[in-house]
Amino acid sequence: MKRYVSIALFFVGQLALAQTPVDVDKEFAFAAQQYQGMLKSHPDTTRFPQSTKPDGSPDDRTSDWWCSGFFGGSLWHIYERTKSPVWKEAAQKWTMAVAKEQYNTGTHDLGFMIYCPFGNGYRLTQNATYPPIMLTGAKSLSTRFDPKVGLIKSWNKFQTYNYPVIIDNMMNLEFLFWAAKRSGNKEFYNICITHADNTMKNHYRPDYSSYHVVCYNPDGTVAAKKTAQGAADNSAWARGQAWGLYGYTVMFRETKDPKYLAHARHIADFYLKHPNLPADKIPYWDFNAPNIPNEERDASAAAITASALLELCTYGGPSAKTYYQSAVKMLESLSSPAYKANLGENNHFILKHSVGHKPGKSEVDTPIVYADYYYLEALLRYDALRKKGVFRS
Ligand code: GLY
Repeated sequence: MKRYVSIALFFVGQLALAQTPVDVDKEFAFAAQQYQGMLKSHPDTTRFPQSTKPDGSPDDRTSDWWCSGFFGGSLWHIYERTKSPVWKEAAQKWTMAVAKEQYNTGTHDLGFMIYCPFGNGYRLTQNATYPPIMLTGAKSLSTRFDPKVGLIKSWNKFQTYNYPVIIDNMMNLEFLFWAAKRSGNKEFYNICITHADNTMKNHYRPDYSSYHVVCYNPDGTVAAKKTAQGAADNSAWARGQAWGLYGYTVMFRETKDPKYLAHARHIADFYLKHPNLPADKIPYWDFNAPNIPNEERDASAAAITASALLELCTYGGPSAKTYYQSAVKMLESLSSPAYKANLGENNHFILKHSVGHKPGKSEVDTPIVYADYYYLEALLRYDALRKKGVFRS
């Protein structure tokens, strides 16, 4: 009798899995097919898939572009799901293609460039050649931290300012936390704390939305609060809110300091309760874009947010289920024909409709490589939670 009950429960469980709104197996099968096309159209590793030009042709970049690590990272996500040596080989090839950026001290984006491909690759394969490259990269990144200012410098210049820091920079800290653990050098850890605390103090408004760019004086006082990619200095640029949410969720994971958890939850609540967030939960490129609802959506912000929420929901609290369900809705929308490409179209990217830099008239309503990366990461996180049965009502 007990055996029949177990069998019945097994089938009910399978049914519940089959009925979930996002079919992870199907989405990864599609991603693998679509990215086979991407690999074929990029036979050598000098041109990195990035986005699509206004004329519809592929817009490729070189390894020094801030997004060069995302393609390799996405290949690792597909390998993680398929465990196929074909994807491992492709991921290794596109990971090593970024290796020379370990010496690049001219950018703050080494978290994206190095940690997305090498970090995932090391987590999945323990390839012993990766950590030295990553540690050199972390050292290069840390040269951009001036203790007198107390933040990692993002760009070398913005308008008339010499020490601009963008909210996106929170995404580099996960890489430095890894480096601190791996090397035993507490300096990397201390940089994360100081940068995150000063960002919390100066980038965030009372409603927990974030400025995009805060410019600092040499003594660490604030010179100006601005935007580069948002609609206005005082607006809430959608991807910036997503970067901050992801960044402070990682801060809590790595430190267990409840102030970061509280901050991540405040950011999530600002985002999810915003009256301009559409019903499908894919935001306009800026929550305060001037012509809403006639503004482009940003699938990349939704993918980053979904991934962050699928971690944040694991830390409990009264809104945990809301975070989970909101993330699932985002994944459901992204996986629908409204945002997901047809096979062989979209220059072989998975998602359509992201916005890179609207004020700069660059990458407006195109596929962008990092939208795919965070979408695949979110699917993996969703699947892990779903299999554990967390939040199933
Ligand atoms: N600067 C990184 C981004 O566009 O989100």
